[in-house]
Amino acid sequence: MRVGILTGGGDAPGLNAAIRAVATLTLANGGSVVQVRDGWKGLIGDGDLVQLDASAFEGILNIGGTILGSSRTNPMKMEGGVEACLRNIERAGLDALVAIGGDDTLSVARRLAAEGGPVVGCPKTMDNDLSVTEYCIGFDTAVSIVAESLDRVRTTATSHHRAVVMEVMGRDTGWVALDGGIAGGADFIIVPEFPPHLDELVEHVQARWSSGKRHSLIIAAEGTEMPELGGREDAGGERDAFGHVRLAKRGVAERLAEAIEERTGKETRSVAPSYIQRGGTPTAFDRIWATRCGTVAYDLAEKGSFGQMPVVRCGRVDTAPIADVVAQQRLIPRELYEMTQAFR
Ligand code: F6P
Repeated sequence: MRVGILTGGGDAPGLNAAIRAVATLTLANGGSVVQVRDGWKGLIGDGDLVQLDASAFEGILNIGGTILGSSRTNPMKMEGGVEACLRNIERAGLDALVAIGGDDTLSVARRLAAEGGPVVGCPKTMDNDLSVTEYCIGFDTAVSIVAESLDRVRTTATSHHRAVVMEVMGRDTGWVALDGGIAGGADFIIVPEFPPHLDELVEHVQARWSSGKRHSLIIAAEGTEMPELGGREDAGGERDAFGHVRLAKRGVAERLAEAIEERTGKETRSVAPSYIQRGGTPTAFDRIWATRCGTVAYDLAEKGSFGQMPVVRCGRVDTAPIADVVAQQRLIPRELYEMTQAFR
């Protein structure tokens, strides 16, 4: 079999483990592996594909990012983009293409498979917001980095008696903020699914000082909407090819910190780990599950089960139609969010 692999969207730790799994199995079964460079961009125009030998996949298990390169190219928004992808897949003689990515990358994979392309998916996004699957490559590492960042910020918050607001990624869902906040002991977790009123936050900070704690660690997801945070268009309105505004430009942590300091009189600072949270070495968990998902993605490709992808359900890797996975976002359930309120 001649198997193409591509990674699309934001890079995430664990991608290389999945790439290595697909490549190792393909080569072990006498096949060849083709790199599609920089996501869907590599299938536009005349295509940008290159055959790789086994040496390309040596020593990459523990390396962050993606050796294949990535981009947010959306062929569905380009004139003749979908046709170009299908043509380049055929011209390169690919029997299968494994597309590793989040909802944007997978929505293109679903379309190509629907048009007869030999495409299977694999779940990756540090946002962890794909439905059907309980695991997405990169989430565990991101949460671990956020928890460690909170640990480190805590020393300044307690020593200087300050409130600190940390902004984390996650786009329209709050999984990174929620799990990072639980693991790092944030005393107030702000997620887009359940945005608080500023009064609630102000009362919380005042109560911490009144009770003698005299510091506060607040974690806020970048996609949260509150009147004090301004609209998404305030972030310059710049959109990527999938129509997403760059949320980091809004400065959610800065705006919240200013509002809290103004209302409470307590010194309040802001911090954002930004790309640090999706950079560097993947955790063992991400390496293991990315390898397991990559293995099942290869199996699907080998069987010709196109339009399908690995998903993690109840502690095992199962498979599901890509269409089901991208049909909706997985949101934080109310009872889980309410559970965190006991730790304020
Ligand atoms: O989707 C992954 C993600 O890291 C989001 O959490 C974040 O909003 C976005 O990517 C950042 O995108 P970019 O890499 O284009 O800055």
